[in-house]
Amino acid sequence: MPEFFMGANFMRVTGRVRLRDNRPISDEEFRRAVGICSAIRRLVDSRADYIAEKRLDPEIALPGNNWDPNADQPFQNRYRHIVEGNYDVLNRLRLYAQFSSFDLVTQSIVTRGREVPKIPDDFDERFEHRFPGPDHWIERYRMITRFVPVDIRARFPKVLGEIGWEMEGHPVNHDVYAYQERVNLMYEAGLIDELRRRIRARGVVNILEIGGGYGGLAHALTGLLHGAVNYTICDLPESLLSSAIYLGVTHPKLRHVLYEGNDPSSLATSEQWMGFRYIPNAFFDDFCELDEGVDLAINTLSFPEMAQAQVRYYGDRLKRLIGDGGALFEQNEDGRWMGMLDCKSILAESFPCKRRISPKTIPVVSKGEADVWSNQPLDTILASRTLPFEGLPVRMQLSLWRLSCLMTTPSLGLIWLRQMLQRQLSPGLFAMIKRLWNRLGGRMRA
Ligand SMILES: C[S@@+](CC[C@H](N)C(=O)[O-])C[C@H]1O[C@@H](n2cnc3c(N)ncnc32)[C@H](O)[C@@H]1O
Repeated sequence: MPEFFMGANFMRVTGRVRLRDNRPISDEEFRRAVGICSAIRRLVDSRADYIAEKRLDPEIALPGNNWDPNADQPFQNRYRHIVEGNYDVLNRLRLYAQFSSFDLVTQSIVTRGREVPKIPDDFDERFEHRFPGPDHWIERYRMITRFVPVDIRARFPKVLGEIGWEMEGHPVNHDVYAYQERVNLMYEAGLIDELRRRIRARGVVNILEIGGGYGGLAHALTGLLHGAVNYTICDLPESLLSSAIYLGVTHPKLRHVLYEGNDPSSLATSEQWMGFRYIPNAFFDDFCELDEGVDLAINTLSFPEMAQAQVRYYGDRLKRLIGDGGALFEQNEDGRWMGMLDCKSILAESFPCKRRISPKTIPVVSKGEADVWSNQPLDTILASRTLPFEGLPVRMQLSLWRLSCLMTTPSLGLIWLRQMLQRQLSPGLFAMIKRLWNRLGGRMRA
């Protein structure tokens, strides 16, 4: 196989991962996925009645802002396609379950329209013809895995339509890059080491993710923590459809509970319980009432897309759930330039402490800025005082390396420039410059 990029310490691309390299899901896995489709359909169909009966605030319990069923984005139609429960669709779930805005089928950022991909029988051949070599995400993945320890590399399996380029036997694509980036940031902040320390002490850690997409980050963290997680995902039922199917197939040995809102006690777990709980957002208060401590809460690239009242609601609940010993990892951009939220200013109403994570192992973060929010200073929450990459020589070495990446990869330099402008300019001015740039034929890659 050709070596596409140079660099002695980089991971090597050893080939493609095509649809035909994926293992097909078994009859049993298909049967379970169809069961999830039926349960989710019931949840979505009864949502309005449930909200009225329990007198919940529709502004919080219904999908809002970018997730409103009438918003101009592909999510609703893709959900409808998946929930039909067709084998060929479920078996290639990753081609339809698109949450990062990156469409695996067209290898492009898709944020508008209602398109659902069509997968012809000769998909692999057409794809190879259209995309003959790795894209810049593969190169960026090689960069960000260069300095982190091997046991910080997340591995994704060849199943459910995960296509891309193969490195060390696993597929890599835009989404794999994106979740690795989040893992790097958590590692640099000392969170992964802290979770591992708590697992050694207690056997399991409690993680709560708000808006988990198809479960990519949940899968990555569960792998790095060897399954010792009590992992709860709170999301719109339409999205839990994808995460419950994806994680059910990729973590068959762990337990999986999809909460349908009938009996809050069914959500309770023992101290050593390991697995996933999927909580529809309208039932989140049932979970909160269990009053379980949360070691790590997570929200990435979601709060700005929600309604203001929803972010405020989550900020208030998460503050109580993490208590004095937990933290919230959050990576989001200021979305005001595209009519969405600056969620950080809302979260600041709930959390007294914030620690910005300035990436050392990532030349340019793909989107947003990462912060760890907590009720007590982060230093008092982490048992170890030593964070990865702390010494001056290593920090200087990594700064030089990041600078050299920007200078030798012009597309990264442009992304850096775009992010700098976004931080410095008012949202209105930035939106104007971006429109102008697009009109001139420019392309903003991240
Ligand atoms: C852009 S996706 C991001 C997915 C994933 N966190 C990532 O970083 O790739 C936004 C996620 O937020 C979820 N979401 C939207 N509104 C929500 C709400 N009110 N409560 C919980 N999750 C919500 C969506 O369903 C989706 O899973």
